[in-house]
Amino acid sequence: MKKTHLLGLFSAAALLPALAGAAEQAVDHPTYANEVSRIIQDNCQICHQPGQIGPMSFTSYEEVRPWAPLIRMKVAEREMPPYQYDADIGIQELKNDWRLSQDEIDTIVAWVDAGSPLGNPEDLPPPKEFPPVGEWRLAAELGPPDHVIKSTAWDVPAAGQDLWWEPEVDSGITESRCIKAVETLPSKEAIGSTHHANSHFMVQDENGEWIQSGRLSEFAVGKLGEKVPEGACRTAPANSKVGWSIHYFPNGTAVPNDQVTVGIWYHDEEDNFNEETAYEQDLRLYFIDGGGDYLIPPNGKLMTQGFHSFDHPVRIDSWQPHMHLRGVAMTMEVFYPETGRREVISQASNWNAGWNHSHTYEEGYQPLLPAGAVIILTAWHDNTADNPRNPDPDQWVGAGQRTTDEMSHAWIAITHLDEKGYEEQLTQRAERDQRNMASR
Ligand code: HEC
Repeated sequence: MKKTHLLGLFSAAALLPALAGAAEQAVDHPTYANEVSRIIQDNCQICHQPGQIGPMSFTSYEEVRPWAPLIRMKVAEREMPPYQYDADIGIQELKNDWRLSQDEIDTIVAWVDAGSPLGNPEDLPPPKEFPPVGEWRLAAELGPPDHVIKSTAWDVPAAGQDLWWEPEVDSGITESRCIKAVETLPSKEAIGSTHHANSHFMVQDENGEWIQSGRLSEFAVGKLGEKVPEGACRTAPANSKVGWSIHYFPNGTAVPNDQVTVGIWYHDEEDNFNEETAYEQDLRLYFIDGGGDYLIPPNGKLMTQGFHSFDHPVRIDSWQPHMHLRGVAMTMEVFYPETGRREVISQASNWNAGWNHSHTYEEGYQPLLPAGAVIILTAWHDNTADNPRNPDPDQWVGAGQRTTDEMSHAWIAITHLDEKGYEEQLTQRAERDQRNMASR
């Protein structure tokens, strides 16, 4: 279409050479060299390269080409890159969002449908450089972490089933401080088999029992460190323990005595951070089923809901659904009793237990809730044979901790505001929206 438009601009005499050039390049389909290689570099190679968790490497045309039909399918279904978050509903301003745009998906589909051509090798981009493995990504900006915590050593076998390693260690934190940023670092040797590594704080209750207090960090390949939003204090509690949940996925290399490390950067005076006026942020579990008392019948489905509200205004900073093998979808909505309005904040309708992502809203787009608004979490479980991850549709499945039991909850980071902070943030957004309108 562009071509016809251009034609009109040229005089007849100038047309002939222009046309000849156009004919050579008259490709009406994308090529690997031109478009597809770039999409794959930016969105897939972080995992699909030698030594990483992707089961095959996508660093050249020769490597990618045989997988083209499967790539088409996985990309069109939005299963790859793995980031289960609906594109057409709820808040779309997300940090560290891995999803392809619809344009990129259409490009890959058109390329495969055209026979996955290489195109002109001269169009190929130079190989992409990846950040070094085994080094803190946040260090470039923040320097080395103020405090590090390591998981207990564990032997990762070369082969076998998925493994979960859940040790508890002393946090080594002697004074409660506000966290500025956290990052989880798998070892260089086990980077290809460390699928997830999540950690949480544990503190002693009045009876001396250790209870889970809040999420410390979360790691999935490709994830950068996490910064706590401005003006919020997420506490690293003194005299705490850290509980780990590490999911290893043996990939051919045995790693004896593997350890995962979490680095914590604290706020200090230089940041202009005032602990007195900062709003407390916590990242913790919100149950959907009241803690778990349900049964999913053989070959059946189940929907469960949970409701949470606060007596003060809050801001929702992130959302991470968590279920087990029968879990297939989750939604977070907010109900505003004063107006009767109900709004979908986030939805993952193709959720699967293989990947766990914390969806972090961009600064200025986090939902702001007045006191009394109700967070509605809805989870769907599918115990039929239609669910590809279901190990046995003929079982009754109850709620519980084991992978074969079900669970439904969400990790949600909440900043606890007061009326003043709530009004201030509403005003800031209204001003921003006005500026945006004006500049349009
Ligand atoms: C965060 C890491 C990660 C990213 C990013 C990623 N993949 Fe994957 N991919 C994996 C892992 C791990 C598997 C195997 C397990 C699974 O299917 O979940 C996989 C599997 C696949 C498969 C094979 C599925 C099968 O059934 O054998 C294809 C095809 C694929 N990925 C394509 C892509 C493409 C194309 C992209 C980029 C647009 C991409 N992946 C991005 C980690 C990743």
